[in-house]
Amino acid sequence: MQRRSFLKFFTFLLTSLSFKVSSNNNNEKISFNHGVASGDPTNTNVIIWTRVTKVSNKSINVNWEISDDINFLKIIHSGTTKTSAHKDFTVKVDAKIPKKYNGTQIFYRFICNNNFSPVGSTITLPIYNPHLFNIAFCSCSNYPAGFFNAYKEMAKNKEIDLVLHLGDYLYEYEKNGYASENSNELNRVSIPSNELISLKDYRLRHAQYKTDQDLQLLHKNKPMIVVWDDHEFTNNTWKSGAENHSINEGNFLSRKINALKAYYEWMPIRESNNKTNIWRSFEVGNLFQLLMLDTRLISRDKQLDINDFFADGVFDYESYEKDLNKPRKLLGNKQFSWVKNTLDKKYKWSIFGQQILIGPQYLPDALKKIDKSSVPEYMHIYLQLAGKKLPWNTDQWDGYPKEREKFYKIIQNSQSNIILAGDTHSSWLSNLYDVKENFIGIEIGAPSISSPNGVDLFGDYANQIDNQYLDENDNLIYTNSSFKGYALLSLNKESARVVYKYVSTVKSTDYKNIESPTFDIKHNQPIKIGA
Ligand SMILES: [Fe+2]
Repeated sequence: MQRRSFLKFFTFLLTSLSFKVSSNNNNEKISFNHGVASGDPTNTNVIIWTRVTKVSNKSINVNWEISDDINFLKIIHSGTTKTSAHKDFTVKVDAKIPKKYNGTQIFYRFICNNNFSPVGSTITLPIYNPHLFNIAFCSCSNYPAGFFNAYKEMAKNKEIDLVLHLGDYLYEYEKNGYASENSNELNRVSIPSNELISLKDYRLRHAQYKTDQDLQLLHKNKPMIVVWDDHEFTNNTWKSGAENHSINEGNFLSRKINALKAYYEWMPIRESNNKTNIWRSFEVGNLFQLLMLDTRLISRDKQLDINDFFADGVFDYESYEKDLNKPRKLLGNKQFSWVKNTLDKKYKWSIFGQQILIGPQYLPDALKKIDKSSVPEYMHIYLQLAGKKLPWNTDQWDGYPKEREKFYKIIQNSQSNIILAGDTHSSWLSNLYDVKENFIGIEIGAPSISSPNGVDLFGDYANQIDNQYLDENDNLIYTNSSFKGYALLSLNKESARVVYKYVSTVKSTDYKNIESPTFDIKHNQPIKIGA
């Protein structure tokens, strides 16, 4: 921590500690405008969350109750907690659930000054092996880009036991920034109007997202396990900087602390003493273990910048390849040791929830023939890599090939690896191999909830580009860049199955449901191409 940022952070802490605490509820008028949420279910506990909207800055007591029935006839656990301006009046409880209710649906609510919050539904993760367990996962929910129709579909889908959000839960841009073209007509203009820098900015943006009715419904109906990606901070973050951070926006570390604080306040995530160590694991019987990873913030070295390899408009392929293969950290040593110690062969499936695509991804040769005027200018340089069988997206694992090999080596000690990814806004399903062609596992990349993807760039041509990707990326089984939605992974002891659930549009709340083909995954085996 640099001295100046440390002083700033220290002053912030002192101010917070000296905040005058009063526990009198004094009948102030309150409301629960941001709904309720639950998250990080373990075999014994679950986080329940809400936020109190009120006028004064006085701290306030909030009661919470958990019941096995929706009418709260029998309370199985309850308590009182205090919230204050220091927490932006968010409320978070790590509730221990009696063993008797393990794995069964339970309900929770908050009560404050005689006001009742909406009733949420959640679970603890089964200690036993359920016949089937369904995990929905998603990423990249951009408020100004469109409606969260896919959240609504997840909320309504009774088959889903657990939702994972793999990051870009919100975006940091100013109101006319990325993907905001239709925000006025959709009545989804970003608040605050500026790019997020201060704690107040990040808090306000979180608050806006949590006014979305579809997001509220999803949180109310399903427990969610989350990890951040870059946009919860700013675009293409690495451990001490970001593509979308410049010196005139202040010290990056202060910005990171602001974003982190707001994230922990507003998300139903369990907090450990070390706030940056977001990696954690979950288990269901011996059916699966789920390892949530941080590839974004804690240890990530700076991405290679592809612009640095152009001399007079000519791309230097040789130096690019050479630099790409230099050691560059993504998970870091501490997280690597944790992964190694946590993986256990007793689980039938080992699931990794993380941010970025791990499988190699090469731009198809046919992209060279594309009309450049139809592609945003920042993408033109990437077209030079089309057909070269060289990675192009250095923000993904492709930009950290040494680290990827190290990760692959460690996870060869677990059973049936399935690696989940977000970030790209498109759907991907791939077999994964290390450099020696050993089969490592399967990768499932989730589409965006609303962020722009291929169809927004290329229209109907997106479909042809998908086919070209399939032709030129040997281990790619399926891709789709035309639809937004989520992925559903169903696990039982014998096999796993994945299907993508899409919505026809995010520009209207009137949409149709579309489903991809389903793909069966067998233990420790690649998916057959064309299966
Ligand atoms: Fe994104």
